[in-house]
Amino acid sequence: MKSILVTGYSGQLGFAFAELLKRSNWDGIIATPSRSELDWSNLESIQNYFAKNTFDIIFHAAAYTNVELAEEQEDQATFINATSLISLAQCIDASKTWLIYFSTDYVFDGSRKEPYNEHDTPAPLNAYGRSKLAGEGVVQRLFPQHSIFRVSWLYGNRGKNFFLTMLSLGATKDHLNVVNDQLGSPTFVDDLAQDIYQALLLHFNGQCNVHGLMHYSPEGIGSWYDFAQQIFNLAQIPINLSPVSSDAFPQKAKRPSYSKLDNTLFQSKTGIVPASWMKQLEHCWDKKKDAQ
Ligand SMILES: NC(=O)c1ccc[n+]([C@@H]2O[C@H](COP(=O)([O-])OP(=O)(O)OC[C@H]3O[C@@H](n4cnc5c(N)ncnc54)[C@H](OP(=O)(O)O)[C@@H]3O)[C@@H](O)[C@H]2O)c1
Repeated sequence: MKSILVTGYSGQLGFAFAELLKRSNWDGIIATPSRSELDWSNLESIQNYFAKNTFDIIFHAAAYTNVELAEEQEDQATFINATSLISLAQCIDASKTWLIYFSTDYVFDGSRKEPYNEHDTPAPLNAYGRSKLAGEGVVQRLFPQHSIFRVSWLYGNRGKNFFLTMLSLGATKDHLNVVNDQLGSPTFVDDLAQDIYQALLLHFNGQCNVHGLMHYSPEGIGSWYDFAQQIFNLAQIPINLSPVSSDAFPQKAKRPSYSKLDNTLFQSKTGIVPASWMKQLEHCWDKKKDAQ
């Protein structure tokens, strides 16, 4: 029986993973504290929470994720995504807890034009990417049992994400400009949660070892424009789409023009082959239709 803390339950990935655990009859406590019970921006909150609660596994999906705002609030982003984990390590027996941390394709600058693997040198272009890279460093230094999964372009049927934004714009607009000079892999959080869950089970059964740093990425690569096109095709929304360069949408945070993550290591360790990003999008659309 293993007790697990899933942080970020009100967000996309935390919710998907905790719900999957519940459906799968996880044999152990599943804790999903709200921000008022456990606030990663507040040392006292972290100390109080972990003085009362201990876990075998921490699936850490809570994070400062606002890429634009992080440009103005880098200290806060860094505290939540990195510094708070130093406090965590001081509050718990870090040698006995498996910390699963999620990082980002935005640790890379996009200057490469072939998929980034775990040996490529990070060079984040924005404050969010720097804060997550700092988090990776803390996790590697202070948590002997850790997994770091770098993931990209998350979306799902709740929260704020590109998939839901496109559907709501598609309901009111007949024309949209969408960026086509940033390439990556959109990732459906339910598929990500399912693949990570399978990987954990294999790990517990001694069939693989998923400690360490790994890239998780669906097969295939696309731009935001390609992603939008597929969303509107599936939803059968007849909208006129124009591909535009990122300059058409000036933003504070620079984004890499290429951030495809190479998932070879994840596949070779676990034998799990993530579905293609188009297939994952179909899964998401099917779930949305089923829920209606
Ligand atoms: N979204 C992406 O495209 C993307 C891409 C690459 C990597 N990632 C990483 O993947 C992980 C999951 O991302 P996601 O998209 O699921 O995130 P999300 O939907 O933005 O959810 C973030 C979660 O973190 C919680 N949170 C934020 N600040 C907190 C604080 N101070 N104390 C407690 N909880 C706090 C939020 O709670 P509230 O509801 O209370 O705000 C929310 O539950 C994160 O580590 C993220 O950095 C995401």
